[in-house]
Amino acid sequence: MKPITLLGAFLVLSGVFMLMLVPTPRSEIVRAAEDDTPLADLMLEAQGTLKKLRRSVRKEDKRDESLELTDQLLKVTLASRLLAPPMIEKVPEAEKAAFVTAYRKMMLDVARATLDLETAVLDGDLEKAQELYKKIADMEDPGHEKFTEGDG
Ligand code: HEM
Repeated sequence: MKPITLLGAFLVLSGVFMLMLVPTPRSEIVRAAEDDTPLADLMLEAQGTLKKLRRSVRKEDKRDESLELTDQLLKVTLASRLLAPPMIEKVPEAEKAAFVTAYRKMMLDVARATLDLETAVLDGDLEKAQELYKKIADMEDPGHEKFTEGDG
């Protein structure tokens, strides 16, 4: 009988453990899932792509990888430009159109810099490519200051 008792105890304990893993409504995990938007997903993709680009643009032998990454970043940026930031809900009605226009134009700045980066990679101009990488990365903070509610 002992093995059954042990098995029973194990099952009960695993059940309790699993319940502990279920996030409470206040947990960060649940909040992140609720906050998840198509734009946030694209932004996370941009983040991953940029992280890889930072290294690849320094190396001649990573040309193909860099071209793949600039292509991804361009697609993500062009898709992002058509999605209004969630913050739009809090913008007064009369300012909404200008807000969306400014947002879209800034995304176009990122897309344009990404095209310039692709050109630099194609030219094998590593120095220029690194400058342009930085130019793109430096747009993140101003973009978030203007178009997010401050915690990103
Ligand atoms: C260029 C480099 C950029 C990177 C790597 C980047 C990355 C990110 C990341 C990681 C998030 C958080 C996603 C999440 O909630 O899990 C985010 C959110 C956001 N970013 Fe960016 N971002 C960049 C540029 C920009 C620019 C230029 C703008 C505006 C023109 C912008 C607008 C936003 C907005 C509106 C959100 C909130 C999205 C939402 O909650 O739906 N980002 N970004």
